[in-house]
Amino acid sequence: MRHAAIVGWGEYTPPAVLSNDDLASIIDTNDEWITTRSGIKERRISHVSNSEMATAAARRALAAADLQAEDMDLIVVATCSPDRAVPSVAAYVQRELGGLGATMDLNAACSGFVYALSVADGMIAAGSVNRALVIGAERLSSFLDLQDRTTAVLFGDGAGAVVVEATDGSEGVLSTSLHSDGSLTEILTIRGAGTEGVFDANVPTTVEMEGREVFRNAVTRMGEVGTAAIGDAGLDVDDIDVLISHQANIRIIDATAKRLNVDTDSVYTNIHAYGNTSAASIPIALSEALDQGVIKPGDLVAMVAFGGGLTWGAAVVRWGDRVERLGTSDSGIPGTEKTGLELLAERVQGLGL
Ligand code: ACO
Repeated sequence: MRHAAIVGWGEYTPPAVLSNDDLASIIDTNDEWITTRSGIKERRISHVSNSEMATAAARRALAAADLQAEDMDLIVVATCSPDRAVPSVAAYVQRELGGLGATMDLNAACSGFVYALSVADGMIAAGSVNRALVIGAERLSSFLDLQDRTTAVLFGDGAGAVVVEATDGSEGVLSTSLHSDGSLTEILTIRGAGTEGVFDANVPTTVEMEGREVFRNAVTRMGEVGTAAIGDAGLDVDDIDVLISHQANIRIIDATAKRLNVDTDSVYTNIHAYGNTSAASIPIALSEALDQGVIKPGDLVAMVAFGGGLTWGAAVVRWGDRVERLGTSDSGIPGTEKTGLELLAERVQGLGL
């Protein structure tokens, strides 16, 4: 049956690093607390916009597939931190890279990449799309509340992308499973970044989160949805070679792997280096896992995610033959002399460094 296969991948992780010690120099926290509670050692702070990061990741994914933007029938960007409400980040990516296919953004918070992959796979199965760019890109550093140390230490910036194309072969997306519980909208929100905040300066434009509730739901739901997607693919958990979870918190990742009964050696993590990059975390991890030889030809890869909404979802993919990029590309983004702290100071009110 016609479905999507991943034929290109790429990531953009901004060069400016914000370490736990950097954060401890401006708020009441410390490396030991952040490391033991979350697994995060450092995160990246972008010196460019969300759409520039998305474009850089897409450029690399296209080069890896040896394809052009003009070959894409669809660009879908999973994000909850777009440059603007209109146009979409996807339209900016197309402006920079070219093509005339459909463009749209999709907001399922941190589950966004799995949702977007499922949408692209569904459109390919329906026959309306042959090739698509699926991107996860976030600049959550714009929404950090440094007065709230339980959230400020968790998030970072970055982008990841894949190119998918139609196949009738045995490789590619075998199953996806998507869910949401709208009764839990208030446990993870950024209120002031939408129209609620336009006329009311008192609405916070920062992440508000009930950490323990999110934690509890995340572990249960990712376990459930991972099991469902693996079953829908006609597989057992033992068949899974690599688990790529949304990188939210190492304790959540470990607990999910335990619930799924997946061996810890099969779990790829990079949360220590990037923190929680929301919809970007899975495609960044996927790209790194490929480049590091963690994913091998024919491997079965399970991706599981959860995020604001609450949303949760999973995808099971059988990898094809190719685990090396056909071509490489520069990100197209110049470096920066600024430190992570300096960049944070530019976008967080009252942080006079
Ligand atoms: N540094 C030092 N101390 C801190 C910090 C900090 N950054 N943050 C909180 N503390 C203190 C608290 O004040 C509290 O102290 P007290 O006992 O004296 O009152 C103590 O640490 C424990 O605080 P808790 O909030 O109970 O800490 P908890 O163990 O629940 O960990 C955390 C908090 C890390 C946020 C955890 O709840 C969590 O990971 N939740 C899930 C969050 C998540 O993954 N969110 C993103 C997912 S959704 C998405 O991806 C958009």
